[in-house]
Amino acid sequence: MRQCVGYWIAFAILAVASCAGSLAAADDVPRSGGPYVPTPQAVVDEMLNMARVGPDDFVIDLGSGDGRIVLTAASRYRARGMGVDIDGELVDLSNAEARRQGVDKLVRFQQQDVLQTRISDATVITLYLLPELMHSLRDRIYSQLKPGARVVSHDFSFIEWLPDRTVTLDVTEKYALPGPWQSTVYLWVVPAKVDGRWHATVSGSGNESLMLSFTQKFQQLEGAAVHGGERIALQDGQLEGNRIRFRLRDPAAGGNALREFQGTVNGDTISGKIVSQGGAASWTARRIRTSVQQ
Ligand SMILES: C[S@@+](CC[C@H](N)C(=O)[O-])C[C@H]1O[C@@H](n2cnc3c(N)ncnc32)[C@H](O)[C@@H]1O
Repeated sequence: MRQCVGYWIAFAILAVASCAGSLAAADDVPRSGGPYVPTPQAVVDEMLNMARVGPDDFVIDLGSGDGRIVLTAASRYRARGMGVDIDGELVDLSNAEARRQGVDKLVRFQQQDVLQTRISDATVITLYLLPELMHSLRDRIYSQLKPGARVVSHDFSFIEWLPDRTVTLDVTEKYALPGPWQSTVYLWVVPAKVDGRWHATVSGSGNESLMLSFTQKFQQLEGAAVHGGERIALQDGQLEGNRIRFRLRDPAAGGNALREFQGTVNGDTISGKIVSQGGAASWTARRIRTSVQQ
């Protein structure tokens, strides 16, 4: 992480010395997320590729610099988008570039602090911001984006919310600068929220009833099932967007045989299939709301 910041400092010094790369960046703007350092185009391409950006997406780049991420999403994938930057000169430059590229109907750029930006409509969020601001944004991104939304960040990760995928690539633009000649791209898929108790029904071999209790830490899932008075711990629990998966020891099969529950979360219900040595079955679950939640 420190090496990444070193690249920023080196870039900023070079940019000031050569007046290149930060053509429009004003030097008197309070940037809590760090200075203007553009993401190399190869890294932009990888970020949009990892987020599987397409024409149905609405991409928000928080701290959008010269607008290249949102502009690439629009010109290459016909995605809609918005870029937000504290620096009005960069915002003007980005809007002018959108007009020049003929994508100004798809995207817009506005001057704003990213902490004030309404993000709930985004299906993709892109970031290249210092860790402290990343951390300030983390809980809003996790709670306000819909399940399945993707978040991609260049070089900086969230605290505790582990990425679902990480890709490191060589970056020729960094050859001239000290520090690693590589960039890392982190991807998170916003998970459905399943924390709490659920009543599950397994169909196939008679209608088996289970009480499930989930404890969720971002996309990681722990918990237990109560089956006929016996408590069985969840294993390998995971969420990716609306998809849920976990394993339970199968009391009917005896020994350590496991059943894998796979399903799709849809608000207060889950439905899916169970894969086990005994063959396939299906399951559904309904969230048990406490009076406080209702
Ligand atoms: C490292 S640059 C990234 C630019 C662009 N996202 C990219 O990857 O090419 C960070 C940008 O965030 C902007 N920024 C920093 N703090 C900010 C804040 N609190 N609100 C809005 N923009 C901010 C800076 O002006 C700068 O343009």
